[in-house]
Amino acid sequence: MVRLETRRLVVRHGRMADVASVTRYVRENREFLAPWEPVRHEAWFTEDYWRMRLAQDVRDYFQDRSLRLFLFPRQSPGEVAGVANFTNVIRGSFQACHLGYALAARHVGQGLMTEALGAALDFVFREMRLHRVMAAHLPENERSAAVLRRLGFQREGLARDYLLIGGRWRDHVLNSKLAPDWRPDPEEAFLASRCADAVSPERP
Ligand SMILES: CC(C)(COP(=O)(O)OP(=O)(O)OC[C@H]1O[C@@H](n2cnc3c(N)ncnc32)[C@H](O)[C@@H]1OP(=O)(O)O)[C@@H](O)C(=O)NCCC(=O)NCCS
Repeated sequence: MVRLETRRLVVRHGRMADVASVTRYVRENREFLAPWEPVRHEAWFTEDYWRMRLAQDVRDYFQDRSLRLFLFPRQSPGEVAGVANFTNVIRGSFQACHLGYALAARHVGQGLMTEALGAALDFVFREMRLHRVMAAHLPENERSAAVLRRLGFQREGLARDYLLIGGRWRDHVLNSKLAPDWRPDPEEAFLASRCADAVSPERP
């Protein structure tokens, strides 16, 4: 399981012991987050759902599908201050994923998301060895745009009717950040070449 430390936060996978804290976070921030998120089913606000989801998050990480992390303030370790989700990991010639994030209303304006994502991006580029992280925001979400700018994301364009937010297809600004010094892993290249040898017809 992943656990990262920053100056003010522990950024890590959720555990069964966190179910109550995570559920409290989604309930307390329901109205605050609604304008920026898909419509949530009532189950989203229950401990039963998060008991299932936190286990699924860990399975998904070990199956190389996603990395879903929670932000816990060091000064208040039982409280969830926000989430940072790296999802839709695609390997092969893409080596990319999507990023989504949110803070509890009471933690906005303290630099916590930039701090958490700095550490998480470092992990995603160095340990997971992804090459591209993509993040999209509604054109009017200036706070989100500012987070991405501070972290070195570059704007790539405007996608029409890109995500279903609040029950409506909404245009989004597309951004991405590339691994600063991505190099092929020699071990991975070796295994890939052995697989190719195994499936290609015998050479004359
Ligand atoms: C998007 C979101 C995470 C941004 O939160 P944020 O607090 O503005 O972002 P950061 O954590 O990077 O904090 C930066 C702010 O903290 C301030 N700050 C205060 N103390 C700070 C410190 N010690 N270090 C750094 N920044 C500090 C910065 O000045 C900046 O505030 P400003 O923009 O008013 O100048 C938050 O607004 C949110 O969760 N919104 C709802 C969900 C959402 O929109 N998700 C993204 C969908 S694309």
